[in-house]
Amino acid sequence: MRRTPVKESKARQLERLKTVLRKWQGIEDASIQHAGAVLERTQNPLIRLVMEILRQDSVMHKRVQQTILDSLEKEAFSLQPEELADVWGMIEEHDEAEKDAVRLAEEARKNCPFAIQKQLLGYLIEDEKKHDRLLSNLEGFKKRLYPYG
Ligand SMILES: [Fe+2]
Ligand SMILES: [Fe+2]
Repeated sequence: MRRTPVKESKARQLERLKTVLRKWQGIEDASIQHAGAVLERTQNPLIRLVMEILRQDSVMHKRVQQTILDSLEKEAFSLQPEELADVWGMIEEHDEAEKDAVRLAEEARKNCPFAIQKQLLGYLIEDEKKHDRLLSNLEGFKKRLYPYG
């Protein structure tokens, strides 16, 4: 039987992807532990805030990585039309709220006269934009799973 080189390299690529994701999960685990160690050592509110953000983000990153792994190893992503219809209106509402949050965060930064607070508001602006983009991605998933829907 003749093996097609394209398919073979795709399988290899997939194996590499899974290896990288698992290695990355190890880094997230170490980051969660390490952030915890810093948090045990300091009472400084600014350092604590930053380390808490990193710790929580690592928890979520690991979960996203696991979801990707599961979709490769167990069950491919799916989205039933009724699942979509059930919450789509709410998702659109949520996206409006995220866009409002971006506007408010930008207004807050503009009005903030203090450098550190301004930096923290800058962080929030990026995060709120990210939330808006994530919801737009959901629109993208919808289009991919239902190109004609
Ligand atoms: Fe991460
Ligand atoms: Fe948000």
